[in-house]
Amino acid sequence: MAEQKPTYYITTPIYYPSGKLHIGNSYTTIACDAEARFKRLMGYDVFYLTGTDEHGLKIEQKAEKLGMKPQEYVDQMAAQIKELWKKLEITNDKFIRTTDDYHEKAVQKIFQQLLDQGDIYKGKYTGWYSVDDEEYFTESQLAEVYRDEDGNVIGGKAPSGHEVQLVEEESYFFKMSKYANWLMNYYKEHPDFIEPQSRMNEMINNFLKPGLEDLAVTRTSFNWGVKVPSDPKHVVYVWIDALSNYITALGYGSDDDSLFKKYWPADVHMVGKEIVRFHTIYWPIMLHALGLPLPKHIIGHGWLTMRDGKMSKSKGNVIYPETLVDRYGLDATRYYLLRAMPFGNDGVFSPEDFVDKVNYDLANDLGNLLNRTVAMINKYQNGKLVGTNDATTDFDADLEQTASDVIAEYKELMDKTRFAEALATVWKLVSRANKYIDETEPWVLAKDDSKKDVLSDVMTHLAKSLWIIAALIQPIMPHAPKQIVEQLGIEGTDLSLTDLQFNDFPAEAQVVAKGTPIFPRLDVKAEVEFIKSKMTANEKKKGRKAMAEAKEKAQETAQEEKTDGKKPIRIDVFDKVELKVAQITAADHVEGADKLLKFHMDDGTEEGRQILSGIAKWYPDPSVLVGKKVLIVANLKPRKMRGELSQGMLLSAEKDGNVQVVTVPDNLVPGMGVE
Ligand code: MSP
Repeated sequence: MAEQKPTYYITTPIYYPSGKLHIGNSYTTIACDAEARFKRLMGYDVFYLTGTDEHGLKIEQKAEKLGMKPQEYVDQMAAQIKELWKKLEITNDKFIRTTDDYHEKAVQKIFQQLLDQGDIYKGKYTGWYSVDDEEYFTESQLAEVYRDEDGNVIGGKAPSGHEVQLVEEESYFFKMSKYANWLMNYYKEHPDFIEPQSRMNEMINNFLKPGLEDLAVTRTSFNWGVKVPSDPKHVVYVWIDALSNYITALGYGSDDDSLFKKYWPADVHMVGKEIVRFHTIYWPIMLHALGLPLPKHIIGHGWLTMRDGKMSKSKGNVIYPETLVDRYGLDATRYYLLRAMPFGNDGVFSPEDFVDKVNYDLANDLGNLLNRTVAMINKYQNGKLVGTNDATTDFDADLEQTASDVIAEYKELMDKTRFAEALATVWKLVSRANKYIDETEPWVLAKDDSKKDVLSDVMTHLAKSLWIIAALIQPIMPHAPKQIVEQLGIEGTDLSLTDLQFNDFPAEAQVVAKGTPIFPRLDVKAEVEFIKSKMTANEKKKGRKAMAEAKEKAQETAQEEKTDGKKPIRIDVFDKVELKVAQITAADHVEGADKLLKFHMDDGTEEGRQILSGIAKWYPDPSVLVGKKVLIVANLKPRKMRGELSQGMLLSAEKDGNVQVVTVPDNLVPGMGVE
């Protein structure tokens, strides 16, 4: 009997089909695709799931606006999204839609079971509801409130900036509170359940410690959703419906649950940071209440942002993947997205960076390595690879060692979905091989007939390196590996990663094709302009105007300060100060220093930073600041105080001797620059 392959189940979030997907949403799908391809090449039996989250008020309203039935609207959008995934060569094994009949039925069963066993109960819900966010907010969570003359709150804005309205409705609630302790223990026993680790701390400090509230899981205010079987004026609210997709897609709650038996629990749910909470609190509790095992890892990735912050249509800084793929090819697009996003943190897209990475990494480093190698094999050996014989150069051992180190490191990093680092590792081999050409100087060897064997050894070493590189980039770039091995005349060779080794190179005496560059060099100016022109033009102007206004204001402020007796500073001086949003992840007293507190902050970088501040007097219990989003001066020269390093300054406001840390609204993300 054939040996059973180990299974691997990976999922993306299911996307709201409320608009065209941009490179930000596409990132998650490409990242999961790279992981799925990697695991397949490592010999796993992979199940890769993606899909669409099609219910809810927002979709209902959107369809109405377009004069369509909700079903018609989501059909059209789901088709569009499937088309996009085809273009990006996503290798998902299934595409689930929450309007699929089997899913709706399974959700009803799940709901009924939770109701029957007392985990769901009926109550009343009052809250500020944002239609756009499909989320309720408490008054204190609102970013802005409107009041009447008597000071009563009559409306406001959600942290996203969307309007909210007061809604009171009968609702079913999930008893989340009952499971809070269990979940806390589960986290303790499974320290790698949430990655990166900092997100687990965030969940504990911001949600579990303050106490979990029961979650409203049905609505009566709209129709477009799965009906509660025993009380059909209620529709199951989006998170129970949406989260269940990960199991219903495998047949849980349906007649044939063989896939569920085979693949559950999932190995990885990959999600963006703003939905980590739903996946690491509500979802585990739901599964536990259903008596099901939990997914092994929830990986929260950062956002792909633009220089002026979050990608959004209203800001006019949106880039669609089609724009990049049509002009620069799929490989360049996938490479860029995975290379630009550091694990767990935000990545910034800029047209300049995109063009640079394509030019440096792909056209120069990898492209040239291939072109030079193919050209030399053609020129010096009539297009034939003739094996190594016994000749060697002084540089062979180091190249071979680099290759084997890179293979090992790469596998480890890919296993942990650290794509940017895995690619950086592969490029170590690209650089090493380029250097090997300079060291061995084949053009000198070619002049000396007695060095023929050495030259042949050099050519084979280069071909081997390229073969290894081709194998390693397969999960990320669907086309280049094939083009590389074709040009080297070693098409059809085994590129599986399970047992990839430098000296297993299969080819001898192969004919090398005449090479054409697989990554043409881009004209920086023209292409930066092109990409910029694709970002919604009029909105871009708005951005510039806002920036100009902000600078003008800063200048005015500087002027005003003059009258304050302070020396005014020029705008370019102010511009040198790097202000950033950060989130306090830990706060403590500094031993032996009455005034000093030390804070650990998430500043958008993986390691975060420590900042000391002399505000102990006003914060005798500094833990009240944990979770707060604050402003820091990020480029202050680090200095030591009482043996502790302070890497920046925390901004506080002061009046009449009272000091308060300046906090910022919750929709700002650690690492954002402040202008
Ligand atoms: N429907 C919910 C998920 C339910 S899963 C049970 C949802 N959908 S979404 O369409 O709004 O977002 C889907 C994913 O796209 C999220 O993981 C989100 O973080 C990701 N992204 C949206 N914009 C993004 C960037 N700019 N950058 C990276 N990922 C981004 O939430």
